[in-house]
Amino acid sequence: MITLGINAAFHDSAATLVRDGVLVAAAEEERFSRIKHGKRPVPFSAWELPFNAIDYCLREAGLTLAEVDHVAYSYDPQRFLRDRLPDGQALLPMDLARHEAGPWESPWDPLFACYLVNAPHQLVDGAPHHLKARFQGVRHDGPFKFHYVDHHLCHQASAFLAAPFERCAVMTLDGRGEEATTAYGRWREGRYEPLGQVNMPHSLGMLYEKMTTHLGFLHSSDEYKVMALAALGKPTLVDRFLELIEVQPDGRYTIAAFDPVERFGPARERGGPLTQAHFDLTASLQQALERTVLRLAGLLRESSGERCLAMAGGVALNCVMNAKLRDARIFDEVWVQPAAGDAGTALGAALWIDRQERSSAAGSPVAKTWTMQHAYWGPGYSDDEIEALLKWAKLRYRTLDDVAAETAAILAQDKVIGWFQGRMEFGPRALGGRSILASPLHPDMQARLNELKDREDFRPVAPVVPLEDLADWFTPAEANRGEAPFMLFIYDVRPEQAARIPAVCHADLTARVQTVARETNPRYHDTLKAFQALTGVPVLVNTSFNVRGEPVVCSPKDALDAFFSTPLDALVIGRFLIEK
Ligand SMILES: [Fe+2]
Repeated sequence: MITLGINAAFHDSAATLVRDGVLVAAAEEERFSRIKHGKRPVPFSAWELPFNAIDYCLREAGLTLAEVDHVAYSYDPQRFLRDRLPDGQALLPMDLARHEAGPWESPWDPLFACYLVNAPHQLVDGAPHHLKARFQGVRHDGPFKFHYVDHHLCHQASAFLAAPFERCAVMTLDGRGEEATTAYGRWREGRYEPLGQVNMPHSLGMLYEKMTTHLGFLHSSDEYKVMALAALGKPTLVDRFLELIEVQPDGRYTIAAFDPVERFGPARERGGPLTQAHFDLTASLQQALERTVLRLAGLLRESSGERCLAMAGGVALNCVMNAKLRDARIFDEVWVQPAAGDAGTALGAALWIDRQERSSAAGSPVAKTWTMQHAYWGPGYSDDEIEALLKWAKLRYRTLDDVAAETAAILAQDKVIGWFQGRMEFGPRALGGRSILASPLHPDMQARLNELKDREDFRPVAPVVPLEDLADWFTPAEANRGEAPFMLFIYDVRPEQAARIPAVCHADLTARVQTVARETNPRYHDTLKAFQALTGVPVLVNTSFNVRGEPVVCSPKDALDAFFSTPLDALVIGRFLIEK
């Protein structure tokens, strides 16, 4: 059974393809369109549709659209519209009527109206942009069946159907779905049971977004900057946040409406100076989030009776919060979907519908045969393809006999390398497929990388370490099965080691660690070990291969563009080395 999953109504447009419960391909549209988060600038202010990502998924699977059995869309537009239309006119197709598209006749129509409400200016050749256009020539009622799936159910499924758990509690937190902003569930014996949800306007994600805006950053994309700044401040105002949040014993919560200027003083202008007061405000916000989520997790632990927790939703990209949750030991293990933001709902939608349909055909829940061990689900390119491009571009390059050893030798000279290997990562983090690698041995490397990527100098850079060396450098190494393959948890740097890897130590001596198992990515792992052989340190800096304002590189051509427009010293692309 082939199921295509789509996220498209808002930001992080993406597509995934699942075959009989196993993920085949997943990618965000921004990587192909080269428009970050898929948001076109004002005045068009429209979200992209994942045409390229769909084409890529089909290509990867060797299929045509006609061979797809199910299309799962990670949002229910009818519920979205019901919110926005007058009472009693829940399904009145006013926007459709305005555009003379007639009444709801096909499953595409509510989606169409949703786009019109959501992105009314987005026109292609004078007609409203519509996902249906991509499916031209394929009847909506066959050969595939179309499904709308609740947004938070998609986040939930992207967690419990991808996590390495047979049973677990599930918590998803984001800005908002159709109505829900937080959802709880339980997965066991092959069955999923919802345990409750919190609806708009009460949203921890939107509270964080609101304060991100107040602090002069862009909401829905800069929250991780706020999280990074929190390490520089003291949580002096945490009670001012906690006074607003009321948690019920069943896990529901309310957040009182407030004016951030009245409550916390004037907003910071975008690009304006950052003061200690800003740091303290971010630290307070961060701690209020952590304390609230810990309470919610405690309640879910009790109501679910489960010992493991799977999480997703944009808030679950907050790796400082995730670490607090891990260290609180409320749950024995915490697993977070690497594509925790809305791109991951394309995966959740596909996994959920695939499972529902196969289970109903079998008459009982089918076994879970796949878990997400890595994030390399995007396009990959053969050495032949890469070399053809290098030749065509008349570039001087060298073919490496031992990629790991030669890369490590360059890194040991304090050079910064663009690293393009294997398939692209799904989700916002670069994890050794489309990375920039550098030595962590000197403290100035952080500033060099921030300068190279043209981004704020407070932004930390993160370490990658072989799985087997984690305990020598970071604590608590035993937590979560002793692994952190997706860079979603911070760790403490061992105090005796901090001076050896200054570039990756954040202000509070923490680091957002990625562990690499050799079987997952042998070339990446071997490079770390080769660097250790030269320097005694099995740790490298890993940051995403992109420049400010651009998505992570996807194709070899993107890699060359980024390489030649930045002060990167070398590019290791497949088996080939280009040096400046
Ligand atoms: Fe979401």
